[in-house]
Amino acid sequence: MTAVDLFLPCAAGVEAFLADECRRILGARTRLLQGRGGVTVEADERGAMALNLHSRLAQRVLWPLAYGAYRHEQDLYDLARDVRWTDWITPAQTLRVDTTAQRSPLRSLNFATLRIKDAVCDAIREASGERPSVDTRAPDLPLALHLTPTHATLYVDTSGEPLFKRGWRDARAAGRDVTGEAPLKETLAAAMLAAAGWQGRAEDGPLLDPCCGAGTIAIEAAQIACAVAPGLARRFAFERLAPWGDREGEWRSLREAARAAVRAPAVPIFAGDVSFRMTDFAERNAERAGVAHALQLKTADALQRLAPAAQGSLMLNPPYGERIEAKGRGSTRPDALRPGAREGFDAGGTPAAFFAELASHWKRHYAGWTAWVLSPDMKLPTLMRLKESQRVPMWNGPIECRLFRFDMVAGSARRSTD
Ligand SMILES: C[S@@+](CC[C@H](N)C(=O)[O-])C[C@H]1O[C@@H](n2cnc3c(N)ncnc32)[C@H](O)[C@@H]1O
Repeated sequence: MTAVDLFLPCAAGVEAFLADECRRILGARTRLLQGRGGVTVEADERGAMALNLHSRLAQRVLWPLAYGAYRHEQDLYDLARDVRWTDWITPAQTLRVDTTAQRSPLRSLNFATLRIKDAVCDAIREASGERPSVDTRAPDLPLALHLTPTHATLYVDTSGEPLFKRGWRDARAAGRDVTGEAPLKETLAAAMLAAAGWQGRAEDGPLLDPCCGAGTIAIEAAQIACAVAPGLARRFAFERLAPWGDREGEWRSLREAARAAVRAPAVPIFAGDVSFRMTDFAERNAERAGVAHALQLKTADALQRLAPAAQGSLMLNPPYGERIEAKGRGSTRPDALRPGAREGFDAGGTPAAFFAELASHWKRHYAGWTAWVLSPDMKLPTLMRLKESQRVPMWNGPIECRLFRFDMVAGSARRSTD
């Protein structure tokens, strides 16, 4: 076993939640350092396997290989030549190098990437007479080079495909959904749930996403409630790498333990969308994620849907595209039944009308609930005529957002301006 400082990148703002998660996975005494954009965790090969299998918040699990100062591309080549590459792959295997940089003085990051690739290939050719080839799609050895203004770190990406890919999303439909909205990344849905402190325990209460789209938030919540490990339905790069070659039994027992831990949910999870196509899509995603039994899906208008329990948490990223179509209160039939209806949302044709109406509806019918709404619109509380009790910074890809918390207290309807 080799203990190293693994680096687990995550979205900005998620670091503290990820640090807690690493301690839950590896034990309370795990040594770790919370940095900007990720967490450094001391762990060995087994720890790397466990983190890949169980982390909901990390983007990847990176294994460090080399670190040093650099000024020119040749310094990067020299740094990479010092690694014993034959410990990692055979010449018959493939590699890919991805480079990220913060204010690097180098003129071409592509050239930096090429120099790392050359160093790996030269080292293996020198040792064996043959060189590995590059595969940009499904490499056996994915390498990640990170450059600061003065230093370079070279990692093996033990995850391969980023960890937000849980393996249940239909690959053909993984892009934009039928409404033109991009589904949330699973890691961001998990971060929303972590920020809300929702862990699927009885005391956390039911959860409802009334604008569920492909179902990402509800499926993530259902997996948490049922203790389904996020990595159970996918493969990882480390499975093809030499240092894990003799750990197949250990990996199998980690996965078996994860399967054995799956339990019935302690709380119900509700989700719905005004579009039948989306609820149908979410249903199929939930089946592939192994949690269809824990999810109650319904095609319904969020502006009309009544609370399914006396209290609980609403959690959603409402539509915020420009393509808006009236579909709010007053429309009695779901869009699939209305001839000519387009996908979209809202009550009066504008986001302002939609959010004002949504807030009025919640004030009337969701007293006792806590609503968590992810939005890039910093003025959302004004649109909703509600005062938030918390706003947590989060990034939806490149879009800066806030997760707003609204406590729907009984009687707040009286303060409504509708
Ligand atoms: C930003 S998407 C949600 C994406 C979702 N979180 C996911 O990961 O796939 C917003 C969703 O709200 C739905 N929607 C729009 N208006 C609605 C309404 N009045 N009631 C319920 N759902 C609505 C859209 O059909 C769309 O699927």
